[in-house]
Amino acid sequence: MTSTVFRDPDLPSTLNHPQLNVAVKAAHEAGKIVADYFYKGTTIRTKESFNLVTDADVNAEHCIAEIVRQSFPTHAILGEEGHEADVTSEHLWVVDPLDGTNNFAHQIPHFAVSIGYYHRGIAQVGVIVNPITSDWFFTVRGQGAWYRNKKTQVSNEPTLEKTMIGIGFYYDRGIMMEATLTAIRDFFRQNIHGVRRFGTASLDLCQVGLGRYGAYFEYQLHPWDFAAGRLFVEEAGGVISDCEGAELPMARTSCLATNGLLHAASLEITKRYWKNGMPHLVKNGDSL
Ligand code: IPD
Ligand code: CA
Ligand code: CA
Repeated sequence: MTSTVFRDPDLPSTLNHPQLNVAVKAAHEAGKIVADYFYKGTTIRTKESFNLVTDADVNAEHCIAEIVRQSFPTHAILGEEGHEADVTSEHLWVVDPLDGTNNFAHQIPHFAVSIGYYHRGIAQVGVIVNPITSDWFFTVRGQGAWYRNKKTQVSNEPTLEKTMIGIGFYYDRGIMMEATLTAIRDFFRQNIHGVRRFGTASLDLCQVGLGRYGAYFEYQLHPWDFAAGRLFVEEAGGVISDCEGAELPMARTSCLATNGLLHAASLEITKRYWKNGMPHLVKNGDSL
């Protein structure tokens, strides 16, 4: 595949945070690594059933950690490809070096580098970039969610009818998958316009922040999948919780992000099939 140019970040000059420039630099350098592997090819390995990993994931994470450590040697770094951290650390970076590895592996140019910075458990900075399309997403607490030099906002759709819903599946082929499919059926019964499964959670959250999806849910995500995107949603005026309505923990969790107006109606569906952090399907009963 021929390479296109990975454009420099179009970082709005009004955005300001002590950790922002390092997050942008790290995402930029990691994005170059990921794009390079995408065009040249790399070996794909299986971590666990259906969950893939490549040299791009691993090398991009190392690159991000190095850049963060150069400026902030004492900060904790949690990353999907091996960086472990105490999530209660005062300064915490949460990194997905390649979100959408399945797309990457199948030569689908829809994946991202996602970096979130948290201070005392509160998201402060989020940077997400698709290095193939050069779509950059920036957010800083209290300063909005930015895309292409504009502050973006969630949609103002008040009902699920005619809404576009984003969804994701974890690498499960059992009851979690059944729960997801059943919830999708219930969304369709609300006369939504459609469902999209693009395969990159961080970019899915950005779609909510851009007002394209009215809602997005997934029954299992990890902190690195949502760490940056959750702030993008919130700063765009949306609401994010787990699929039962509780605050998102910095741990494996379900996730529902909406424009806020659709949160209660979406939650009503997602929590039918997810209780106490587990799939909940009642055969031959009301739920199925
Ligand atoms: C995955 C993607 C996908 C989501 C999965 C995630 P990965 O991340 O975000 O969209 O459905 O749950 O694990 O493994 O490609 O970094
Ligand atoms: Ca991910
Ligand atoms: Ca990943």
